[in-house]
Amino acid sequence: MEKTFKAYRLEKDNQQIIRGVQELTERDLPEGEVLIRVRYSGVNYKDAMANMSESAIIKNYPATPGIDLAGEVVESVDDRFAEGDQVVVTSYDLGVSHDGGYSEYARVKAEWVIPLPAGLTLEEAMIIGTAGFTAALSIHQLEQQGLTQKQGKVLVTGASGGVGSMATAMLANLGYQVEASTGKQKAHAFLRELGAETIIDREAVVGEKLRTLDRQTWSGAVDPVGGETLAAIISKLKYNGAVAVSGLTGGIKVPTSVYPFILRGVHLIGIDSVFCPMELRKKVWHRLSTDLKLTDQQFKVIKHRVITLDQLEETLPTLLADQSFGRILVKI
Ligand SMILES: NC(=O)c1ccc[n+]([C@@H]2O[C@H](COP(=O)([O-])OP(=O)(O)OC[C@H]3O[C@@H](n4cnc5c(N)ncnc54)[C@H](OP(=O)(O)O)[C@@H]3O)[C@@H](O)[C@H]2O)c1
Repeated sequence: MEKTFKAYRLEKDNQQIIRGVQELTERDLPEGEVLIRVRYSGVNYKDAMANMSESAIIKNYPATPGIDLAGEVVESVDDRFAEGDQVVVTSYDLGVSHDGGYSEYARVKAEWVIPLPAGLTLEEAMIIGTAGFTAALSIHQLEQQGLTQKQGKVLVTGASGGVGSMATAMLANLGYQVEASTGKQKAHAFLRELGAETIIDREAVVGEKLRTLDRQTWSGAVDPVGGETLAAIISKLKYNGAVAVSGLTGGIKVPTSVYPFILRGVHLIGIDSVFCPMELRKKVWHRLSTDLKLTDQQFKVIKHRVITLDQLEETLPTLLADQSFGRILVKI
């Protein structure tokens, strides 16, 4: 590897966070069995949170954020991986308590690494990233619960965001009737292009009044929003319907009751991409490269922007300001 390389670093100086691209050497990298030349990373909600001054995500500074990376193995002391292998790493401690993907080089634990699935490029894998993986895991678990295309409309909330836009595209490709909810008027054309059949306003999910039991509307839902939105979904799921919840952009308190569960048999499925077991993780990545794979046109539409390490500082806050849609790819 080169003598020095670039990484986007966060340093703490008293209570101030200093952000910027720095030159590092191999000695600055954390321990791990696999050294990777990173080619792409992505921008996730968690990355935007980690970049904040009052972040509860990063525990130790200095730190390199970036919860996703894709690249080529440079060296490995674990015999599952060899020089030149194309690999993907998402979640675990990456970009949280272990230096992450916003770097030309990363050293990681072998148990976090998966071979790039056949049928995906490194670039596509990082357009997908944790957001796309979470969308796919949500759909996979809803189907395990019994969701099929015959049961009617499936709701996707936060549809202009990473998880939501990916879920919209994947569900549409599987032949589901997708109702996308968004707070952004300007995202309607984007969502239709990804395959949404109907679009409703973010506020309309809850409607005028939040009830514990409401009109049975959706057979299933992918919900990265949480809060009252999740409570409203639970109240409007059809009999035996299911919602896969992954996020909290709408809040963490969910004002519901036992009634939808005991009177309509609805299912609440928790989605965690971080410690998702490796066997299931590989199964979902396989689906991402086969039946859940986006079309070339969908990849093009969803790849909202391509940025470099130098643009991370100005770009990360835009996610929390609810300004962006689709996915932001980081080319390294
Ligand atoms: N459980 C897991 O493993 C996992 C993995 C990935 C992400 N997540 C979580 O999932 C959530 C979404 O992640 P992401 O990467 O998709 O983020 P993102 O790209 O920033 O998208 C979030 C979307 O949420 C909607 N939104 C924003 N503020 C809102 C509000 N106040 N009320 C309702 N909706 C609001 C917006 O969509 P519209 O304008 O279209 O409504 C926004 O685009 C985050 O909470 C993230 O932490 C969890």
